[in-house]
Amino acid sequence: MKLLGILPFARFLLEQALEPGDIAIDCTAGNGHDTLFLANIVTESGKVYSFDIQEQAIKQTQIKMEENGINNRVCLINQGHETVAQVIPDEEHRKVKAAIFNLGYLPGGDKDIVTRPDSTLQAIQALLTIMPKGGTIVLVIYHGHEEGKNERKEVETFTEALDQRKAHVLKYQFTNQANNPPFIIAIEKR
Ligand SMILES: C[S@@+](CC[C@H](N)C(=O)[O-])C[C@H]1O[C@@H](n2cnc3c(N)ncnc32)[C@H](O)[C@@H]1O
Repeated sequence: MKLLGILPFARFLLEQALEPGDIAIDCTAGNGHDTLFLANIVTESGKVYSFDIQEQAIKQTQIKMEENGINNRVCLINQGHETVAQVIPDEEHRKVKAAIFNLGYLPGGDKDIVTRPDSTLQAIQALLTIMPKGGTIVLVIYHGHEEGKNERKEVETFTEALDQRKAHVLKYQFTNQANNPPFIIAIEKR
């Protein structure tokens, strides 16, 4: 297929937003795939802050970083992404050029532990405040599960209402696929 799939497109957006030396945020570390991807883009002169509320996810991500020899530039935070503005020191805010959320539950983990609309929206708002102009937030929205349907609605309502002078909002979605496939909402701060 020539059209980029959802995950490749999410990565394409992150690559566009980030350069070596930047700070990137993985808002949902999970098994650490995105943290590793971000760490490779920002290189050893940059930094990745990676959040997850599950200790299991933080451990998995730590192991992945060690296996790849890049734990020196990754800061793992075992708490909710809604605390992002407090966790990242003020002097680093202007270097936060991209953030990724993979919403939903941890693949292979407890399906009852899912991202929730309130904390997701809090984190998006905090990121829009601290990021410099051009900062990009990529949300991969999984909406097959019950809580995901509600979260999808809330994220769409919130992002569609963002003032176009303050942010560009993009939706990337395959519209004729079965079983509620994930889609992307990306926000670029202006
Ligand atoms: C779909 S998984 C992420 C998959 C991950 N990107 C990967 O590469 O494996 C969603 C993750 O979000 C985490 N999560 C749920 N609520 C959270 C919150 N408020 N802050 C940070 N992480 C949260 C879950 O524990 C789960 O590990």
